Amino acid sequence: MSNPLSALQVPVVQAPMAGGPSTAALAVAVARAGGLGMLAAGYKTTEAMAAEIRKVAERTDRFGVNLFTPEQDPSDPAQLDAFADALAPLAAELGVPAPRPGEYTDDHYAAKLDHLVAQPVPAVSFTFGLPSVDDVARLRSVGTAVILNATDEAEFTAALALDPDAVVVQGAEAGGHRATHGQAKTPQEISTADLVSSVREQTALPLIAAGGVSGRDDAADLLERGADAVQVGTLFLTAQEAGTKPAHRRALLGGEHEETVVTRVFSGRAARALRNRFTDRLAAAQVPGYPQVHYMTAPLRAASADDPEGLNLWAGTGFAGCRETTAANVVDLFRGL
Ligand SMILES: Cc1cc2nc3c(=O)[nH]c(=O)nc-3n(C[C@H](O)[C@H](O)[C@H](O)COP(=O)(O)O)c2cc1C
Repeated sequence: MSNPLSALQVPVVQAPMAGGPSTAALAVAVARAGGLGMLAAGYKTTEAMAAEIRKVAERTDRFGVNLFTPEQDPSDPAQLDAFADALAPLAAELGVPAPRPGEYTDDHYAAKLDHLVAQPVPAVSFTFGLPSVDDVARLRSVGTAVILNATDEAEFTAALALDPDAVVVQGAEAGGHRATHGQAKTPQEISTADLVSSVREQTALPLIAAGGVSGRDDAADLLERGADAVQVGTLFLTAQEAGTKPAHRRALLGGEHEETVVTRVFSGRAARALRNRFTDRLAAAQVPGYPQVHYMTAPLRAASADDPEGLNLWAGTGFAGCRETTAANVVDLFRGL
């Protein structure tokens, strides 16, 4: 397998987006249009991940799979209990049982990695931390390109030490979860542009710039600063092929939500979302508590169904660039850069 980054016709990586938006159809459409399609393994069983990979691999070899690395900062049980208490009134209003903290789960990390070694894919990217030296070596030995994530210079230096094939540098504008190595960390405010400029000086390694790309001009600036490609999430959320919930799509396109906030209220990990009633109401109670908080808020989010005020409306600061369109049209924004 050749490094899929070197085979890009358009310098765009479709961000893996766990929780529904990433679909096999989205990854295939992006790959066919000339970008790199990514599947999100997060929150799925190994079998579900494998089934999605089969669907994509039949159609393209320009794709990768993203894994959540096991959380390195354990949640504090007392903080989880306090957050559960804060959720109770909301649960009562929604008519669902008051959530209690569950056990830590590692998102089937080892089984997913074993599968990816047994049935290799062109690229594997990691978020929320770094894989072990052994994990990297196993993927490399089967010809898979390894892509790591970093949100600041220290994380970038740690990523470089693993000799990856590329690093996604994620700036503060990014939608969805910040990729910080450890949930306890307060993510730095450094912009994607500044992060690219500062890490470019340290290495010739392929850099993928993620965060806040609202259109062609933002991408051109990041490439000018030394990025080899941009990783775009939010703009793909309103592509037809994405599995984004209807209420989330409407909120991104509707103009009623004016700003984004970085919040731990949905999952216990810092993530950028459209500010809504849920983010406002629980802001004062938020705690580091990933992944337990994700599972505690899941029934409340499910009960909110079509009400955008009760959902995690992940969005980067560039969400005003979202259009109701096809994935190929989003890729086309970056053609020729
Ligand atoms: C809905 C959504 C889900 C995301 N899920 C993941 C994920 O599963 N894995 C990951 O590495 N990054 C995830 N991200 C972050 C993206 O990889 C990327 O850093 C971000 O989308 C870039 O910023 P932008 O949204 O402003 O384009 C997600 C982003 C969004 C918007």
